[in-house]
Amino acid sequence: MTTATTAGAVGTAHTRVEGRDKVTGAARYAGEVPFAGLAHGWLVLSTVARGRILSVGTEPVLGMPGVLTVLHHGNAPRLDTDYIGMLGVPPDPTAAVFQNDRVPHAGWPVALVVAETPEEAREAAEVLVVTYEREPHDIGLSAGRPDAYAADGHLPAVTEKGDLEAELATCAHVVDVEYTTPEEHHAMMEPHAATALWDGGRLEVVDSNQGTTWVADEIARMFSLEASAVRVRSEHVGGGFGSKGLRAHQVSAVMAATALRRPVRVVLTRRQMFSLTGYRSPTVQRVRLGAGPDGRLRALEHRSLNQTSTVWEFVEPSAGVARVMYDADAHRTSNEVVRLDVPSPTWMRGPGEAPGSFALEAALDELAERCGIDPVELRLRNDPERGPVSGLPFAGRNLAACFREGARRFGWAGRDPRPGTRREGRWLLGTGTAAASFPSGALPSTAAVTAEADGTYTVRIAAADVGTGARTALTLVAADALRVAPDRVRVRIGDSDFGPAGIAGGSTGTRSWAWAVTAAAEELRGRLVPGGAVPPEGVTVRSDTTAALGALAPRERHSFGAQFAEVAVDVATGEVRVRRMLGVFAAGRIVNPLTARGQLVGGMTWGISMALHEEAVRDRAFGGLYGADLAGYHVATHADVPKVEADWIDDPDPDDPVGIKGIGEVGIVGAAAAVANALWHATGVRHRNLPIRPDRVL
Ligand code: MOS
Repeated sequence: MTTATTAGAVGTAHTRVEGRDKVTGAARYAGEVPFAGLAHGWLVLSTVARGRILSVGTEPVLGMPGVLTVLHHGNAPRLDTDYIGMLGVPPDPTAAVFQNDRVPHAGWPVALVVAETPEEAREAAEVLVVTYEREPHDIGLSAGRPDAYAADGHLPAVTEKGDLEAELATCAHVVDVEYTTPEEHHAMMEPHAATALWDGGRLEVVDSNQGTTWVADEIARMFSLEASAVRVRSEHVGGGFGSKGLRAHQVSAVMAATALRRPVRVVLTRRQMFSLTGYRSPTVQRVRLGAGPDGRLRALEHRSLNQTSTVWEFVEPSAGVARVMYDADAHRTSNEVVRLDVPSPTWMRGPGEAPGSFALEAALDELAERCGIDPVELRLRNDPERGPVSGLPFAGRNLAACFREGARRFGWAGRDPRPGTRREGRWLLGTGTAAASFPSGALPSTAAVTAEADGTYTVRIAAADVGTGARTALTLVAADALRVAPDRVRVRIGDSDFGPAGIAGGSTGTRSWAWAVTAAAEELRGRLVPGGAVPPEGVTVRSDTTAALGALAPRERHSFGAQFAEVAVDVATGEVRVRRMLGVFAAGRIVNPLTARGQLVGGMTWGISMALHEEAVRDRAFGGLYGADLAGYHVATHADVPKVEADWIDDPDPDDPVGIKGIGEVGIVGAAAAVANALWHATGVRHRNLPIRPDRVL
């Protein structure tokens, strides 16, 4: 990567600084980093969905070739799980392995077999006999369960203003519909993998995660170690999407490395990932909308129910999106959960907004039909001035501008609103639209920027590049702040020894880290004498954004977008083809258009996948999944994905030093609704349960 300029790197397309390493195989992922004397752990998962472990038959297994030890609840060290982690939640007990004999769901970790080779560990793990006392399990999520309860998670469970029933009773147009979304999995390319080893008095974990500060902090707390005694490295990450925090693989690897006093690696199989690493809960959502003849919303209710495990409360805050998108005189939202004998769900790309926008934006489409108002126009008429629930001003909304630009480019004008009237051979054609939003936030971070004696600069920050291009984005940000060309800046990330930093999650990563890098780089530039010599050890400036973030004015901060889709439906076979998609986003200043486009197109592609393909099906009898692999769990592949275009309008965040808002999640939000709405326009049938499989279309 080279450039002739010494300013304006931000906003210019750059290929990934580590791209060559990645495509030539020089970049090592967590499961590939070599260590001398490495032993391999293989997790054994429960075969029952609820009960107690009666025995773990270690004796025959310990005599097998290469087997070094078997860890289980009878011999594993006790962990401290009584803490609230960096993200404000207690640890998921699925990660705190082997603490008792309870089995709360199918695929629960019950033992780790450690051997000289992965093959020996796997063979012994398959031979290990674990006996259980079975108890009846319950995995059935449905609306109206008496044991469902309103739960906060990261947001208040319930918001309420006005008299909903009274308003609904007097509205000219009312929509009252239930939507469901299925269990969905992150299905990132790179499986979870970690190697743990003791180096003198320090524990080192080489891992694949979304934040080395986050994972190091949790490991230190769980094992009651000083924070300074734990180092976590995570240099390259093949996708995370919310799933790569502290999991059973790191914790069991640390236990084994401690017991054996040698490096131990634990790699999860694809099948194991389906029960150990979180997923997006299925949701049942009810949306009630009431509008006057002009389409202005007078009543809005959005309720969402998700499942969580019996051991960890996770709220998929799907109703949260209604708190930001639309106002109404009477407005009510709630997020509810029910505890079942299932694995713990977790954050998955666009948590809350992705399933929530499917329901809300599909309901808006149904309302547009009732009102006889164009769906774009309906959204423009209901674009609020301030946060509908918070009352706070927006730090830029620009959703209307996205819709106007998107409608122009998509060719929306003159669309015939009648459904089921466009035919091309065996295909019925339709177009649909939906709005997108996702919160924009930043987490406190520290960075160090060093002016080296050779005229180059080194940035050190515990950032994570989960495939987003964060490393490259930070290179551009640092270059601009230092007023040098990007090829004079090297950015080192993925090491908790670089000091605390936020995670690659919640669309906060690049914003959080760019803030810290900019602060350190600008101060460094002020300190250097132009043309002056730099000492051999360099000059280093450190930053910490904690105070600056604390001083931010309260505002509604979100990225927004307008999604458009065209679909073709074969009513004889039920086949749905998405023909084209366009997303226009207002998502802050775009640091690197090349990788930003990849992020947004990736999110939109996932929306197609969510609309048409993705669904993990749980067997009521044994409590686990059918087809817990990438053959059984269908994701959109190349042949499913047409021309997907993503673009953006100028929308810098006024309070961010670089103008960043965040683009990691907003691309998926509304995308499934746009496809579903297009499907209705093609066929005249509303599909309210995802995925819209061929058998449902027929
Ligand atoms: Mo994202 S679900 O915050 O990794």
